[in-house]
Amino acid sequence: MAAESPAALPASLADLPAERWPRHIAIIMDGNGRWAQRQGLERVAGHDRGGHVVRAITRECARLAPIEQLTLYCLSSENWKRPAEELAFLMHLLEQYLVNERPIMMEDNVRVRMIGRREGIPDRVLYELDKTVNLSAANDGLQLNLAINYGGRGEIVDAATSLAYQVMAGQLSPGDIDERSIAEHLYTAGRPDPDLLIRTAGEMRVSNFLLWQISYAEIWVTDKAWPEFDEATLHAAIRDYAGRERRFGGLKR
Ligand code: IPE
Ligand code: IPE
Ligand code: MG
Repeated sequence: MAAESPAALPASLADLPAERWPRHIAIIMDGNGRWAQRQGLERVAGHDRGGHVVRAITRECARLAPIEQLTLYCLSSENWKRPAEELAFLMHLLEQYLVNERPIMMEDNVRVRMIGRREGIPDRVLYELDKTVNLSAANDGLQLNLAINYGGRGEIVDAATSLAYQVMAGQLSPGDIDERSIAEHLYTAGRPDPDLLIRTAGEMRVSNFLLWQISYAEIWVTDKAWPEFDEATLHAAIRDYAGRERRFGGLKR
């Protein structure tokens, strides 16, 4: 299997000590529509192109052994405000992606999971999603978290609701609710927080992405739109991250 034979690291990253690498990278894949419009194309052509970049970047993260988790913002809970035709295209693209990428994910030993609310996602997309999630469940290489119909505030609401039910059932006392129990009720339960948050297309905002989990993530923004993002840009972000000093509220070491 490809993932078992550690491939050579790219020259630009070969000298980074293991502890300087981000273990979890989260990406706000933005700017598809603007990129397409700049080329004189329809917005959806940007989403189409963006899908190819998802494949390339996932493969690269699977190849770069120190990276354990990749979380991709595919559709926010606020993106339902977009025109019906664009949403229909996005759903079709997602469905195709889940079908076409399945053998590649298996070859790359990638485990796929979804974070977000299932309600509102068409059944045929959920069917392909579940199929990919189940098929890849035993893969122990890169963990790929697809954020679909995801909103950070909604996730915290869902966690609060689930904790409230536990209290009501007498399984939990309100005084026992702490950061750990809240984290355990998020969609990302059991997974580490992102170390590096990348956003493409220049916007300096988090757009309701992983609000709880990015408390201490290092943020890296590029002006490149998602369809222009490539392996070299990913390497540049990792390199930049490796040079940062994370203090977590403490003092310089
Ligand atoms: C990101 O690109 C993809 C999704 C949000 C689904 P956009 O569609 O937001 O592209 P811009 O930001 O309008 O250029
Ligand atoms: C964030 O991008 C959502 C995804 C990348 C899926 P948006 O394009 O929706 O963010 P805003 O509206 O510019 O904040
Ligand atoms: Mg956008």
